[in-house]
Amino acid sequence: MCGIVGAIAQRNVAKILLEGLSRLEYRGYDSSGVAINNEVGVRAHRAVGKVQALKDKFEATPLDGKIGIAHTRWATHGKPTETNAHPHFSGPDLALVHNGIIENHEVLRRQLKELGYEFKSETDTEVIVHLIHNELKTEPDFLQAVKNSLKHLEGAFAIAVTLNDQNHRLIAARKGSPLVVGVGIEENFVASDQLALLHVTDQFIFLEEGDVVELTRDGVTIFDSKDQVQERPISVFNHNIDATDKGEFRHYMMKEIYEQPAVISACLEGRISHNKVLTSCFGANSDFLKEIDNVHIVACGTSYHAGMVAKYWIEDLANLPCTVEVASEYRYRKVAVPKNTLFLTLSQSGETADTLAALRKAKEQGYLTTLAICNVPSSTLVRESDLTLLTNAGAEIGVASTKAFTTQLTALLITAIAIADQKGQLSAEQQQNLVNSLRSLPAYIDEALKEDEYIKQVADRFANKHNALFLGRGPMFPIALEGSLKLKEISYIHAEAYPAGELKHGPLALVDEDMPIITMVPHNNMLDKLKSNLQEVAARGGELYVFADQDTELHNEPGVIFTKVPKVDEILEPIVHTIPLQLLSYHVAVVKGTDVDQPRNLAKSVTVE
Ligand code: G6P
Repeated sequence: MCGIVGAIAQRNVAKILLEGLSRLEYRGYDSSGVAINNEVGVRAHRAVGKVQALKDKFEATPLDGKIGIAHTRWATHGKPTETNAHPHFSGPDLALVHNGIIENHEVLRRQLKELGYEFKSETDTEVIVHLIHNELKTEPDFLQAVKNSLKHLEGAFAIAVTLNDQNHRLIAARKGSPLVVGVGIEENFVASDQLALLHVTDQFIFLEEGDVVELTRDGVTIFDSKDQVQERPISVFNHNIDATDKGEFRHYMMKEIYEQPAVISACLEGRISHNKVLTSCFGANSDFLKEIDNVHIVACGTSYHAGMVAKYWIEDLANLPCTVEVASEYRYRKVAVPKNTLFLTLSQSGETADTLAALRKAKEQGYLTTLAICNVPSSTLVRESDLTLLTNAGAEIGVASTKAFTTQLTALLITAIAIADQKGQLSAEQQQNLVNSLRSLPAYIDEALKEDEYIKQVADRFANKHNALFLGRGPMFPIALEGSLKLKEISYIHAEAYPAGELKHGPLALVDEDMPIITMVPHNNMLDKLKSNLQEVAARGGELYVFADQDTELHNEPGVIFTKVPKVDEILEPIVHTIPLQLLSYHVAVVKGTDVDQPRNLAKSVTVE
């Protein structure tokens, strides 16, 4: 999604804004822009493509000033062109950046045109800046004019606005899109997330729905949705590693793949004792666990795949019915909620528009309670859910989710065990075994990573492939789905995933010598059935890529490329098998020469519908 940054300082803010944009680039990277407000007026540079193109413009023609706003765009209304790039202007003096979607922009555009406003871009954003300009004709106070204008907007927004004769203040607001204030010494900032400002401050105020904020050099004044001044707490950012540093790795994605043993340990910390899951990790009152009779999981993208795995665990361990659904579907349908149902959302960002809308809807539906499994403690999803279990993966920059996914799975397994325990479905010995498995997970991930070099060679075989088919059975089916999503996201190879038993009902027609079939082989009672499915493929000349542990007695042979995965307890297989698939997608993308960390058309955090 788009990212915004704003700054008001005693020093030149151009470099601060450009660095902020680089740090936000993972949110959107099809164009960017900066407007600087100084004695001469408000002037802007915009560029199509990466933030580097904008930096080049600043290099050629510097703009200096002590107040400014900046934007990195993920196009929704109008192509990624310089004209559509933010900041947008109304007249020469008023500039605005926006993240979100204005749903009534067509109506507003018509009204503003009737008032004589000319639109330069195809964006929905441009209506906001003209609305404010129009308000200023009758309301001389800049802050009040912004507040008045926001009342006309339907949809989601986070905005920052600067006006030429208002060099002492910057106005920002949020409703439906994230926005955080960065507090400095004689300088203050706003941005879509904290990462964008870590080079200038570690003190943050999280704005709430409907907040409008006035930033001056000396202070921050927040008005809530009822226009009352509010004091909000300052949080100090406490990540000890700067996630925006790639370290020894060529891409963030690879760095994040390799961080998995450490972040899974962080996810387990404080959640398990030597023999049980600590229910206190769900908060002081964990009695709700005993009352759950059903679980309804709602999420998007990769998080949805994590939810699909959890269904197997919850039904198997806790013996409770569990349904899993994508948020964009859930939010628009009539739902029937069985008694005592836990509503569980999964999100790495905690800002996904569809997931937030689903949570807000669920709160009206009589669920037992709402639990968010999320990676961002300050996110809207966390703040609006009754209960939270943080995944503690640290900031993830690569657009294709890796460590955020495996920590979600870890947190989900903890949750499934806790529910099973509280529902009386686990003996002490069973729980002890599960906890032992969880404790050994980081070491198994480490072992799985050792196949990296080998998988790199396997990936070379995909250089000229255009399609791929992923197969799995049981909880390995969602892992196959996740593997195929990863491959298509970053290598642009068309990939699909099927439950292996469905092969004969259609996809077998696609199998020939050009079609790689990637199979996640579990070591359980499905092994023999899966081997039969593989025979069906081999008989049609398909090239099989098999990921399995050595005891499955599968190995390299003509038509079969075997990759070893550590032998682990069955319950951990979906997590451990994810690692080679991440590595495969990564290396295929590198072979294909695509942009691994910022694949075309995608955004890390989808804050619009
Ligand atoms: C985007 C990201 C995906 C992510 C999905 C859901 O599409 O590119 O990696 O899985 O959003 O995001 P969430 O933050 O809710 O997990």
